[in-house]
Amino acid sequence: MKIVILMGSPNRKGSTSILVENFRRGAEESGHNIEVVDVCHADIHPCTGCIACGYEGDCVQRDDNEGIRKALLSCDMVVFATPLYYYGMSAQLKIVLDRFCAYNSSLNSRHLRSALLTVAWNSDDWTFDALTAHYKTLVRYINFEDKGMVLGYGCGSPSMTASSIYPKQAYKLGRSL
Ligand SMILES: Cc1cc2nc3c(=O)[nH]c(=O)nc-3n(C[C@H](O)[C@H](O)[C@H](O)COP(=O)(O)O)c2cc1C
Repeated sequence: MKIVILMGSPNRKGSTSILVENFRRGAEESGHNIEVVDVCHADIHPCTGCIACGYEGDCVQRDDNEGIRKALLSCDMVVFATPLYYYGMSAQLKIVLDRFCAYNSSLNSRHLRSALLTVAWNSDDWTFDALTAHYKTLVRYINFEDKGMVLGYGCGSPSMTASSIYPKQAYKLGRSL
């Protein structure tokens, strides 16, 4: 499979990255082809809501989102990787989701597999309730097939994450594909 990971943390060596690299290692060992897209350091602007695209067509904005559109429409699986920011995904990753607007039907008809990799400082059992509800709703709406979620409770710093059970979970998820 060709798997695109949308890396939604601005920290290149942070906790999200630890999960991404472990997932990547597992998936590559299983023979998959991985592309990590660093959405936080790309030039991607928020959807303006102009609807010039008519929900399926050229976006008036000319930026790095075109590369993401092409990658997602030619892959088999998308992985959303994000730190928890105020109980949702990072704004940088959300901007990419909103830009799905211009290729909504195309993406829907791809029936991609998907996964969620996330980390948070908090470790209460409700930590990821809002984020997982959003992710599951997106999967349902856009006709993805969820292959799994790694929810990194208590992963407030790279050292906390590295010594947690979650890098192994991310590796196993990648390896299982
Ligand atoms: C802007 C911001 C918002 C955050 N919001 C939350 C939050 O709502 N709940 C939580 O448990 N941790 C929150 N955190 C902590 C991060 O999710 C956590 O430190 C994570 O490991 C950061 O991942 P990274 O190393 O990839 O940046 C927040 C951190 C930042 C910078």
